[in-house]
Amino acid sequence: MKVLVVGGGGREHALVWKVSQSPRVTKIYAAPGNAGISQLAECVPVKSDDISGLLAFAKANRIDLTIVGPEGPLSMGIVDEFAQAGLRIFGPSKKAAEIEASKTFTKDLMKKYGIPSSEYGIFTDRTAAEAYVREKGAPIVVKADGLAAGKGVVVAETVEEAIAALDLIMSQKAFGAAGDRVVIEECLKGEEASFMAFTDGKTVLPMASSQDHKRVFDLDKGPNTGGMGAYSPAPIVTRAIERQVMEKVMVPTVKAMAKEGRLFKGVLYAGLMIHEGAAKVLEFNARFGDPETQPIMSRLDTDLIDIIEAILDGALARVAMSWKPDSAVCVVMASGGYPGEYEKGREISGLEKAATRQQVMVFHSGTAKKNGKVVTDGGRVLGVTGLGPSVAAAIDHAYAAVRDISFEGAHYRKDIGARALETGN
Ligand code: AMP
Ligand code: GLY
Repeated sequence: MKVLVVGGGGREHALVWKVSQSPRVTKIYAAPGNAGISQLAECVPVKSDDISGLLAFAKANRIDLTIVGPEGPLSMGIVDEFAQAGLRIFGPSKKAAEIEASKTFTKDLMKKYGIPSSEYGIFTDRTAAEAYVREKGAPIVVKADGLAAGKGVVVAETVEEAIAALDLIMSQKAFGAAGDRVVIEECLKGEEASFMAFTDGKTVLPMASSQDHKRVFDLDKGPNTGGMGAYSPAPIVTRAIERQVMEKVMVPTVKAMAKEGRLFKGVLYAGLMIHEGAAKVLEFNARFGDPETQPIMSRLDTDLIDIIEAILDGALARVAMSWKPDSAVCVVMASGGYPGEYEKGREISGLEKAATRQQVMVFHSGTAKKNGKVVTDGGRVLGVTGLGPSVAAAIDHAYAAVRDISFEGAHYRKDIGARALETGN
């Protein structure tokens, strides 16, 4: 079987790595891939949002299965276009991917079907939005409606901050058309967790739990990033919480999407806030999370291709997934300056040494090859992932490998997984 993986980040490296272990796979391509992926797959210079380029490539190379990583191509309708051309592709249709691409659509869906989430208002008018903020008071959360690469959300501690966010999103159009509408919602307290599940539109199969670390600095300080690390399992997601999330969130949402004529096939990802034993939805994503997929794929025992094929055939009910009992911890090494401006092209050393370690996988995110050397090529550069019989052991393995690796300006959080230790795992 020939497989094409769309994307070129740490998530896609973890997916390629997992797919490469399937005895059914004979060849893997990645578009565009990165330096790490190129050790396992043939990287092709087609961007992940170039749908017609990807379609032409898949046809010309007789790709049997395409797996989509990022949200961009999903929300542009890559799955619809491949399906129309008779090609097998894993991910939700454009209409189903709206669950990530439009926050207003999703808030209304959750309200209609009684899925637990925060109270909210939707506004296209700046004056009405400001009046709502003043009425509700702070803290309060302001979100641009559309995709904004994780940056269109402001958790405002004061009314003034919320109004500044309205200015940024609605008046200055900092996120373009994504800010034509805003959602203003109640600020939830608690601890966040990521809950991903495979679904064929009927059956919902939960993956192992995980938690990411969005803020750039230790102790959750500093601005939000794409994710500075993740671990799995997340002790906050107890058996009781998992059952609750399946019953009150995942299953009802998959049913609701089918009822709305938006059958969801793929990975449904709920970003949750858990407080006093109750989980509420912060957001949905229509894809695998990044970096969460790095620890999760490291722990998945079942052949990913078998799971994906069952989903495409509407037969997920017959799949049983198994997981390694080990914990996994992924530490992201980022470029100096990230999540602000940063430079690319810094040579990365120590990768060979890290590669000799047992229980460690170094997944690449923003890397490229230049004159035979691996260099930095993005904000998040590497996802150094350690496995171990306990979170503490996984942390030790991951950080030992992090210390093997260096590049100018590199920074990383020192406390990935620490919260799981506190919870007593
Ligand atoms: P989102 O992209 O909607 O998940 O928002 C990004 C981040 O903003 C989340 O991971 C939370 O840390 C925070 N956030 C979003 N919505 C809320 C909310 N209603 N209450 C508190 N924090 C929130
Ligand atoms: N780790 C958050 C995301 O993938 O959106």
